[in-house]
Amino acid sequence: MSSFKEFLEKTLEDIKSKNLYRERLVIPEDFINFSSNDYLGLKDNPKTKEELIKNIDKLSLGSGASVLVSGYTDIQKELEDFIAKFKQTEKCLVVGSGYMANVGLIQALTTEEDTIFSDELNHASIIDGVRLSKAKKVIYNHTDVEDLEKKLRSISTKGRKYIITDGVFSMEGDIAPLDKIVEVADRYDAVVIVDDAHGTGITGEGRGTLFHFGLKPKDNIIQMGTLSKAVGSYGAFICGCEKLINFLINKMRSVIFTTGLSPIQNFISLENFKLLAKEDFRRVDVLEKASYLYKGLEKKGIKISFHGTPILSYIVGREEEALKIRDRLMENKIFIQAIRPPTVPKGTSRLRITVSYNNTYQQIDKLIDLI
Ligand SMILES: Cc1ncc(COP(=O)(O)O)c(C=O)c1O
Repeated sequence: MSSFKEFLEKTLEDIKSKNLYRERLVIPEDFINFSSNDYLGLKDNPKTKEELIKNIDKLSLGSGASVLVSGYTDIQKELEDFIAKFKQTEKCLVVGSGYMANVGLIQALTTEEDTIFSDELNHASIIDGVRLSKAKKVIYNHTDVEDLEKKLRSISTKGRKYIITDGVFSMEGDIAPLDKIVEVADRYDAVVIVDDAHGTGITGEGRGTLFHFGLKPKDNIIQMGTLSKAVGSYGAFICGCEKLINFLINKMRSVIFTTGLSPIQNFISLENFKLLAKEDFRRVDVLEKASYLYKGLEKKGIKISFHGTPILSYIVGREEEALKIRDRLMENKIFIQAIRPPTVPKGTSRLRITVSYNNTYQQIDKLIDLI
């Protein structure tokens, strides 16, 4: 057997030879960033910074324990109550991150008797949650409700059926047909879990993908979202009926066996969430800008997908091609990360362009010019 160091080296060489090597880059301050999930421009918001400075003496730096021990705080409760009201659900549970939310939620809910129906392009945190679960896994074609229904019909199970989908797909920017999914779920007595990491603040006038389709929350729908994207903070939430939240507090390992979020982080999430709810002009503006970018690129003959969200996917196929475009843009002080497998399926390497409220039309024109 090779030494441990040789094993690490060989694996890294192998990744490099496939153009799949990843590095963390610090984006220089003078670069134009089209690769942030800070869609509403809230992550550097001066009003929240000002409120934080005013309140800093009242806030502990850390929560000190799991929320089930002594780490639950007034500010987290206030944040949960605010989100529950915003999402029109009975209750909300704030957890450490979107990744922890999905992994913990799916594992906590499901048993070996159950079946999970998962969209083929769901986020990695959902995939990992399904892997941790003992339930049977069925993958349906991307946003294909006919395929989903065929699979629901053909599986006989003693247990419960769960349908899991991104609300807005993180790499494509398209919106799950939640109206049809909920309709099928009702017919097959299934529970729907919607991951609105990218829908929060964007779809349904900011309230999420359920509201985009004019649907109302109900007991067999679980809405998850992150505080790390349009909210511009860190953490995540799960919204549903009171019994669901009490169940999760008792069963979810990524709530029970981890320290609660820092009160400072929850304070930032609450202040930013209030801005998200109040300042709808941010959402309207970013969607106008995304549409402007799409039209500009289309006029240049560049094939790009746009679905009325701030995520635009410019699929180039090969990894080296995506890296080449990224590097050329960087020479011009524009940053768009090249997204490659395993984040996206093989042969679909791309530039995932995200537009933020903070991007100006001038910056967008520069991008259209250069791409
Ligand atoms: C669809 C989706 N779900 C969950 C997550 C994880 O969220 P977080 O970054 O808060 O862990 C992300 C983003 O990374 C995502 O895109």
